Amino acid sequence: MYGASVHPASEITITAGGSEALYSILTALVHPRDEVIVIEPAFDCYKPIITLSGGIPVVYRLEKPSFRIDWEAFAQLISPRTRLILLNTPHNPTATIFSAADWAALARIVEGTNILIVSDEVYEHLVFDGQSHLSLLSYPDLFQRGVAVFSFGKTYHGTGWRMGYAVAPSYLTHEIQKVHQYNVFAVPTFLQYAISDFIEDRAAYLSLADFYQEKRDFFERAMAQSRFRLFPSQGSYFQLADYSQISQSSDVDFVKQLTKVHGVAAIPVSVFYNNGQQDQLIRFCFAKTTDILEQAAEKLCKI
Ligand SMILES: Cc1ncc(COP(=O)(O)O)c(C=O)c1O
Repeated sequence: MYGASVHPASEITITAGGSEALYSILTALVHPRDEVIVIEPAFDCYKPIITLSGGIPVVYRLEKPSFRIDWEAFAQLISPRTRLILLNTPHNPTATIFSAADWAALARIVEGTNILIVSDEVYEHLVFDGQSHLSLLSYPDLFQRGVAVFSFGKTYHGTGWRMGYAVAPSYLTHEIQKVHQYNVFAVPTFLQYAISDFIEDRAAYLSLADFYQEKRDFFERAMAQSRFRLFPSQGSYFQLADYSQISQSSDVDFVKQLTKVHGVAAIPVSVFYNNGQQDQLIRFCFAKTTDILEQAAEKLCKI
């Protein structure tokens, strides 16, 4: 899909989900006092793994409403101790995606350095409005210094199976597999056989963008009369919503109330920030049946 030619044994590691891939990658590549640039809001496991390896997370904060990276400001975070840049596209929780310009800017920043790139692409097939996912694997020069992380859990609606993989040039895969080997040794063989059968059917993953875009559009339409202000969702199955017209309480208190009183669960966005930043934003997930989305929107529109 991304025009890369990779060796199955020496450049791919099958992992227990994207999570174990990230754990094995970061544990192998981050050493004490290494700085790792993390983009916030960030998926919850990134910083704990970096810290556990003795690394120092250096945070670049995305700002609403666009949640885009200002690459000039980003470049200011680079130091002689920068070991690695950790990025995520499509992005959880902001539902933004990397553009070709983002990749070009990143390439300029790392040129002439030894900085590694870890690209978390677990939502690769969930990109909407006719746009395409741009993978690290599409950029041969960047791939030489990087690892891309994927998850069969997201692609096959089976996060409980804990199946994913990491793709990296052999010199990095060699290091990652040292950790992977003593971490899980291997992931269950019968699941690998099952997934390899699913992969034969290209339509299953190539139809995912339309499948989820329909859900996104349905939820957006159903929420049109609500007092929540929805942010555009370009990818992933998440949808950010601003609730400032409804309540001034903290996002954690607000989602507790939403769950207990109204029966709809959401995630407070402050938990994706180290400093607990309060933007009165919550994250909905539209990976649900139409029936559930309809019921949820009905409840939310009454608030
Ligand atoms: C951005 C991101 N990366 C990685 C993962 C982990 O994926 P997996 O369930 O395959 O471990 C998730 C899961 O929610 C995620 O949102």
